[in-house]
Amino acid sequence: MLDAIAKLLLHLGDAVIVVDGEGRVPALVPEPLDILGAPPVLRGQPLPEHIAARVPLEPLLSGAREFNRFPLAHGERRFEIDAIALDAPEASRAVFLLVHDVTEKISDERKLIAQEKMAAVGLLAAGVAHEFNNILGAIYGYAQMAKRDESFREKLIDVVSREAATARTITGNLLSFSRFKPYEQTSGKITEVIDSVITLVGLELSRNNIQVTRDFKDVPETLLSRGGMEQVFLNLILNAQQGIRRNGTITVSVDSDGNDIVVCLSDTGRGIAPEHIGRVFTPFFTTKNVGKEEHGEQATGLGLSVSYNIIKDHAGDITVESVPGKGTAFTIRLPVRKERRKKKVKVSTERRASELTRDPARILVVDDEVHIREFFVQLLASHEVSTAGTGGEALLALGRENFDACILDLMLGSEVDGIDVFRTIRDSYPNCQVFLMTGYPVTPEMQSELESADGLIAKPFDLVAVESLIATIARPDLG
Ligand SMILES: Nc1ncnc2c1ncn2[C@@H]1O[C@H](COP(=O)(O)OP(=O)(O)OP(=O)(O)O)[C@@H](O)[C@H]1O
Ligand SMILES: [Mg+2]
Repeated sequence: MLDAIAKLLLHLGDAVIVVDGEGRVPALVPEPLDILGAPPVLRGQPLPEHIAARVPLEPLLSGAREFNRFPLAHGERRFEIDAIALDAPEASRAVFLLVHDVTEKISDERKLIAQEKMAAVGLLAAGVAHEFNNILGAIYGYAQMAKRDESFREKLIDVVSREAATARTITGNLLSFSRFKPYEQTSGKITEVIDSVITLVGLELSRNNIQVTRDFKDVPETLLSRGGMEQVFLNLILNAQQGIRRNGTITVSVDSDGNDIVVCLSDTGRGIAPEHIGRVFTPFFTTKNVGKEEHGEQATGLGLSVSYNIIKDHAGDITVESVPGKGTAFTIRLPVRKERRKKKVKVSTERRASELTRDPARILVVDDEVHIREFFVQLLASHEVSTAGTGGEALLALGRENFDACILDLMLGSEVDGIDVFRTIRDSYPNCQVFLMTGYPVTPEMQSELESADGLIAKPFDLVAVESLIATIARPDLG
């Protein structure tokens, strides 16, 4: 009887093993069965240990009714084993194991995923190229106008600032998507982040006659990745703006509800169709045709998926509701989380953190980009600034002079890289503060080493953020 059932079941799988209450095998097809590795399964013998250990049958043998599926690997081959319990006449109770060889199926699936990934990369490249061409088109166009006619200079500055903000959102999305963790999380107020984003895009919004209404309650500080959260709100506001196009309102409210901070961002735009709403957080999902100019919009479809991941990194949640033709509302819940430990500000004994930012400090700027070095020379005009373009030059300068601080690019691309210069300063010049610059979010592996830096400057930088870091440079005690 058991044999007959096993044979009947064979057409459902590649092999069938029957196991009785004593853990023995009263029947199996085909026999002997050696596809699952040594020793083979034999009639009348106990189920071999290498299978018994991976396929726990106890609950099924002792009366459980459910059906279980166990994955099992043997060398290159992959199996799935379905276990079904039956009350059989010969054995008081028996479990039938249906063995499926899924090696081929998995390798086909992998191929399909690889193909889909390639298609996605192509799609992504097309979207990014198009977005950057729009940005460059605007900058290049106005740069040429300004060359011809001085009166376009103001306009050029406007356009460059605006387009740089858009470019920053795109590169930020790409980097987040590549699964680098966003910057370190520190305690802060979400309302301040939202305010800074509204300021950044304010001009563009008012140009399109879009009003922003804020309703901010006083909420507690919580652990935030500033860069990550800016990215989230840039994406949400940009989407809202694209949903409205012209003439409308974006409402942002912040409140707390028990242990959570609740942010609601709604717009009076075109809304999201019911058949699309379930897919908006999926990577590459976009209704803004890639490769085709539609209402001047171009998109990669990464904005919301990246935002979703950032919110998850904050142990939070983001949801959406929309009424087509009326508008869309995103709700973000963030649990209030406390900082584990305060980062200590290291100021050596013979120095003090200067409250007088006017005291000139000796600063070494290290970056392989000449424009970035020049930018810092201008910004730090009231200080004594030296520059270096390679890690080697930086080490020479450090050996020659005493610096109060070093602004250091991590990716110098030279033989001695930024990280080497950083380690040398930490080991040999403990009085020199280090501000690290990077265009890359810090990976978890780098995070712990870089925590000993005195500050992190994210490229492209925010002028105010850089200035406030510079203001923390400790000077020799002049008094
Ligand atoms: N506020 C909104 N109003 C209307 N539709 C929206 C809104 N927010 C999102 N959507 C819809 O969700 C889709 C996905 O949004 P997402 O931000 O992920 O990508 P995108 O805006 O198309 O591209 P990207 O953000 O990469 O430039 C959009 O294409 C749009 O159809
Ligand atoms: Mg978007």
